Amino acid sequence: MQKEARGQQTRDGIRLFQEVDFVGMRAAGKLAAQILDEIADEIVVGQTTGKIDKLIEQKVTAAGAQSATIGYKGYRHASCISLNHVVCHGIPGDKKLKDGDILNIDVTVIVDGWYGDTSRMFVAGKLDRKSERLIQVTHDSLFMGIEAVKPGNTFGDIGHAIQSFVEGHRMSVVRDFCGHGLGRVFHAPPNVLHYGRAGTGPVLQEGMFFTIEPMVNLGRPETKVLADDWTAVTRDRSLSAQFEHSVGVTATGCEIFTLSPGNRFHPTYTAT
Ligand code: MF3
Ligand code: CO
Ligand code: CO
Repeated sequence: MQKEARGQQTRDGIRLFQEVDFVGMRAAGKLAAQILDEIADEIVVGQTTGKIDKLIEQKVTAAGAQSATIGYKGYRHASCISLNHVVCHGIPGDKKLKDGDILNIDVTVIVDGWYGDTSRMFVAGKLDRKSERLIQVTHDSLFMGIEAVKPGNTFGDIGHAIQSFVEGHRMSVVRDFCGHGLGRVFHAPPNVLHYGRAGTGPVLQEGMFFTIEPMVNLGRPETKVLADDWTAVTRDRSLSAQFEHSVGVTATGCEIFTLSPGNRFHPTYTAT
């Protein structure tokens, strides 16, 4: 443990937040999750990803919040929408959703200076068996990672929990993108790897805020970025899925800031 000039506590270069900061993250995380809840009914065959993004942007504005992605490194949209073999950072556009398409929608909002970052999978039309399996394993792998979050464990424990689960289902974990610290900035230390060895990496401590956002491929883990400089796809064109939560380490485990208010995080939720 060390103290920085401004009196902020850090450990291994990772900021340690206070109880009052959890309050800020709760509000930001909740809004991001609620927006994804609200657009779920718009994910239908024939819908364009550009229209979905515009709806998201309107909801961010209506809530009096800001989009963290608009203007981020030249990105111009309120969400990333990644279809089928797109791993992440898909750019919303005129493309119409087709029957059986699976898509990740990733939204990051800023509320009172705090960043809430979450993504989940959606399905247009009828979900086929192999897509369903991929989505289920990816979803469950995120929660395997979350279960490893408690003081005294390490970041390597999180990565190991995710990787061993995914590979046990004969799928692969993307190495080229990772989770990240966040708080009053979008991306902060550490890099949260979704693979690794148990017991390695920085030790988790109460007050750390970060995302866990595993990307899982049905085929090989390699990715490439298209000429638009954003869209990352699987090199072998196999299907890819991702789920993301923002969490804060507590004394006994973690708090998930981006829980779905409507319990719609899992794509096969049943409306109650
Ligand atoms: N929300 C993404 C993440 O999970 C980052 C998107 S950056 C963008 O870290 F510019 F592509 F939107
Ligand atoms: Co993120
Ligand atoms: Co995100």
